[in-house]
Amino acid sequence: MSKRALRIGMIGYQFMGKAHSHAFRDLDFFFDLPVTPVLQAIAGRNEGAVRQAAEQYGFASYDTDWRRLIERDDIDVIDIVTPNVAHAEMAIAAAQAGKHVICEKPLAMTVEEAVRMREAVEKSGVRALLCHNYRYAPAVQLAKRLIDDGRLGRIYHVRAQYLQDWIMDPNFPLVWRLRKEVTGSGALGDIGAHILDLARFLVGEVRDLAATMETFIKERPLGEMSGGLEARADRSQTGNVDVDDAVAFLTHFENGALGVFEATRFAAGNRNGNRFEINGERGSLRWDLENMNLLHVYLEDDEPGLQGFRTINCTEPVHPFADKYWPAGHIIGYEHTFMNLFATFVKSLVDGSPCKPDFEDGVRNQCILDTVERSAATKQWETVEYR
Ligand SMILES: NC(=O)c1ccc[n+]([C@@H]2O[C@H](COP(=O)([O-])OP(=O)(O)OC[C@H]3O[C@@H](n4cnc5c(N)ncnc54)[C@H](O)[C@@H]3O)[C@@H](O)[C@H]2O)c1
Repeated sequence: MSKRALRIGMIGYQFMGKAHSHAFRDLDFFFDLPVTPVLQAIAGRNEGAVRQAAEQYGFASYDTDWRRLIERDDIDVIDIVTPNVAHAEMAIAAAQAGKHVICEKPLAMTVEEAVRMREAVEKSGVRALLCHNYRYAPAVQLAKRLIDDGRLGRIYHVRAQYLQDWIMDPNFPLVWRLRKEVTGSGALGDIGAHILDLARFLVGEVRDLAATMETFIKERPLGEMSGGLEARADRSQTGNVDVDDAVAFLTHFENGALGVFEATRFAAGNRNGNRFEINGERGSLRWDLENMNLLHVYLEDDEPGLQGFRTINCTEPVHPFADKYWPAGHIIGYEHTFMNLFATFVKSLVDGSPCKPDFEDGVRNQCILDTVERSAATKQWETVEYR
């Protein structure tokens, strides 16, 4: 018997457009969902490019105006995979039109925008998902389970880094991710937001923080993203970089833990080093996205002489989401984090079960990002004022 369709309308079609389309295409294959996601329509401003994306990704139709997508009554979910500057307007319009919303991170450009997005969703009663997909790596979910079960006891330290190196070349152009008016902030909002989400998920809320930010290359040729993290440069013109290349900050968590965070796109050799280590009174956990199936676990009550970090390949049927894919040891990858996230969201749309992170998480994350910028400017510890 065929299941009801959940019709997806996507806005944007490059890096995340590809990741999200792929996840939706394969979702019904791996998960026993109550509805079948259908790639109904995709929108982008360039007709040739959006037509090609529709064909490649498998969308039934395309449009060059995202507003028309939102007006269609044959679309249930609007999935926003555009640069950050467009998130608020699109998400609010989608919610007001009664569509469920998926939005890429960071939720917004400012706290004020993020709050308006949350309000629009609450008012219209639709569900909203924020795409911090790394929460949904099985090893991260296992880390959460161990912490919630008290296996680490009281948490003392969170050490989180997101290290990349893709803009180190001074000739890498001034793409949207380096322009404040389109992105909001640099490494902070792009990758710092991810490790903050992981820390909030695993450990709890940040109380106050002290931050510093740096822009190493202040002028670059103009250019634009061309898919993935690649770009095309126009060497004849240059512009000023007005966002951070790197950020570092210390935090106190509300539960007393101490956090040390670092996000940079200038860590040579680190292509996508999203890592954390968490130390508690009874043990420690370590995770690194580039070996994302592995969780390193140290438990204080292991037998003396046999203590040490053990490496768990989180692919056993008992591990979160692992039973949806392959037999133990047959590893999964980056794209599966989106599938696990979307499967949870799709299920929540049908049975009302919780699905995080949502726009409330987005507002909280945005409040921390805002406090980081404030602290870097004042050179003082600043308290996070949640809205
Ligand atoms: N969750 C993750 O791991 C992750 C990874 C990368 C990017 N992101 C986030 O995803 C979003 C998109 O990033 P990306 O890497 O896919 O960018 P990208 O540059 O690869 O693609 C952006 C897309 O948006 C389209 N677009 C831009 N402005 C538009 C508008 N006004 N109307 C319609 N379409 C518009 C572009 O044509 C392009 O298709 C950003 O918010 C980014 O922070 C998240």
